[in-house]
Amino acid sequence: MQRLLKAIQLTPDAPAPDHLDDRALSDLHEYPADLAVPHVRANMIASLDGSAQSDGRSGALGGPGDRLLFGVLRELADVVVVGSGTVNSENYRRDPRVRIAVVSTSLRLTAPVLTDPSTIVLTCRQAPADRRDELVAAGLTVIDCGTDRVEPPAIVAAMNDLGLRRVLTEGGPTLLGSLLSFGLVDEMCVTTAPIAIAGSGARITAGSTTDRRFVPAHVLTDDDGYLYTRWIPVHPLDHTARSVSRAGRVHH
Ligand SMILES: NC(=O)c1ccc[n+]([C@@H]2O[C@H](COP(=O)([O-])OP(=O)(O)OC[C@H]3O[C@@H](n4cnc5c(N)ncnc54)[C@H](OP(=O)(O)O)[C@@H]3O)[C@@H](O)[C@H]2O)c1
Repeated sequence: MQRLLKAIQLTPDAPAPDHLDDRALSDLHEYPADLAVPHVRANMIASLDGSAQSDGRSGALGGPGDRLLFGVLRELADVVVVGSGTVNSENYRRDPRVRIAVVSTSLRLTAPVLTDPSTIVLTCRQAPADRRDELVAAGLTVIDCGTDRVEPPAIVAAMNDLGLRRVLTEGGPTLLGSLLSFGLVDEMCVTTAPIAIAGSGARITAGSTTDRRFVPAHVLTDDDGYLYTRWIPVHPLDHTARSVSRAGRVHH
């Protein structure tokens, strides 16, 4: 066991700076160079007592450091893959730094990002045809990733086909749970907010159980008492399936 000190990076050969500005944070979170297949990073926040929500949203758990990290991770990514529950509840908008890909079977999507032509919609063949037609008519890229549900491996394959290999997922819990259960998460950035909120909020993952083991890549903190952790799988993931196109038809 080791004592964690402020802003200590656990990577053995890297220096442990006292202060990490956004440039240093960016360097710490660089994606691997020359990716041949997508690399999927998750970024989530939980309260001290494990809740992913406060008043039905995650934003209320955050502080300035968390918002800085959130922005840095978006800057580094080619695409943010996010579930419809999060997009609707957090009212997602277009972000000039990164493309947004929304996962939805029902296509019951209300957020402003769904009117932006740069948005990608990952859905399935049995999604409501009228809603699909509206999205296509608005210029969005709509991709079928399964027959009656969105298959997680097809999500990653679709990103590969579009050349969007630096993938960031901001959840939510249902989407992250399904990506984890398929062994598709290459790293988890998990912020712990120094707030205990009790209640019955969801955790940062949901769905069927899985048993994925991770080791810490670094642990950071700030003056507000937040903990910023980054975890990578103990066993390297099998990436062979990611370069095989499993995404379905792209609607234009
Ligand atoms: N603490 C955090 O870091 C954090 C991050 C994100 C969100 N949240 C919170 O989590 C809550 C939303 O939770 P959620 O679990 O509903 O969000 P979610 O994972 O963003 O959305 C889940 C929805 O995505 C669609 N979906 C389609 N295919 C899927 C697939 N293969 N796997 C998973 N989802 C698929 C389904 O909706 P359709 O009906 O459209 O098919 C499903 O109900 C909000 O309160 C939000 O604030 C917290």
